[in-house]
Amino acid sequence: MRQEPSYTAATMALQRAFESDRPSGSRLFCDPYAEAFTSGPLRFLARASRLPLVGPLAPRLFDLIGGPGPRPSAVARTRLIDDIASEGAPTVSQVVILGAGFDTRAHRLPALAGVPVFEVDHPATQAAKRSVVESLGLSSAMVTYVAVDFERQSLEQQLRAAGLRTGMSTLFIWEGVTNYLSDSAVDETLLSIGRLAGPGGVLVFTYVDAGVLDGSVSFSEARRWLANVRRAGEPWTFGLVPSNVGGFLGDRGFVLVSDVSTKQAGERWFAAMGRREHGSALYHVAVARTA
Ligand SMILES: C[S@@+](CC[C@H](N)C(=O)[O-])C[C@H]1O[C@@H](n2cnc3c(N)ncnc32)[C@H](O)[C@@H]1O
Repeated sequence: MRQEPSYTAATMALQRAFESDRPSGSRLFCDPYAEAFTSGPLRFLARASRLPLVGPLAPRLFDLIGGPGPRPSAVARTRLIDDIASEGAPTVSQVVILGAGFDTRAHRLPALAGVPVFEVDHPATQAAKRSVVESLGLSSAMVTYVAVDFERQSLEQQLRAAGLRTGMSTLFIWEGVTNYLSDSAVDETLLSIGRLAGPGGVLVFTYVDAGVLDGSVSFSEARRWLANVRRAGEPWTFGLVPSNVGGFLGDRGFVLVSDVSTKQAGERWFAAMGRREHGSALYHVAVARTA
């Protein structure tokens, strides 16, 4: 992990900005704050996508560079996790967003209003996030920021020190992060989550198909995607074999509740909205409960 704000977090914000600029009947969600987390060429593209007539060319240009998979996959995963978080929030006492990047759920999901949210991220990305949140004048009354490097620090210790209440049912969201970590950081983080989630605790997380990392499974969108994250200085380092996810979680004290690829998730919405995009089969969203 670089000692500067995550570039992939900024590209997620750009992709959410593109989605939010679509007409209300054909977008998966609206994140009115996403554009504010972009800068440089990403801000240029975000602004361009709001222009009349030529606006749709901006996401198309993004897809030309990134390939057809990443953007639809990103917005499908965000929508799916929005839905899971909105449904789960009333049943939990607190929410923890791990590797939050420029996720604005704490400010935009009505279901999270009034729920204590702990946003955990690498210090460099979190500092950038906080300065934009302040400049937007967003209230952080319910948000506690916790700077943690998953490779070097104990999530459990840092969350306890920040005031996370233990023994209370907690929703953990870990979106777009495991693929950037080492095996041991993923294991340590899962151990912490297991000890902190409380009765009825839920973990929503994403992972990439391990086959994309060792080349044992072929996805047409993978080559460019892998090259782009490597070029951004944030190569993918961790993945799971979808058929083993239940066993992997079981060995770590969790029960798998659901696992869908962003291709499957996208099928719920894109075609019905008259859109031809498809999420990617290599990117998964899984939900687990503590055993
Ligand atoms: C692709 S971004 C995803 C951000 C956000 N969850 C989203 O979906 O938009 C990856 C995030 O993982 C965080 N991250 C990567 N390695 C990390 C580490 N070792 N410790 C803490 N956070 C890390 C980055 O700071 C960044 O916010």
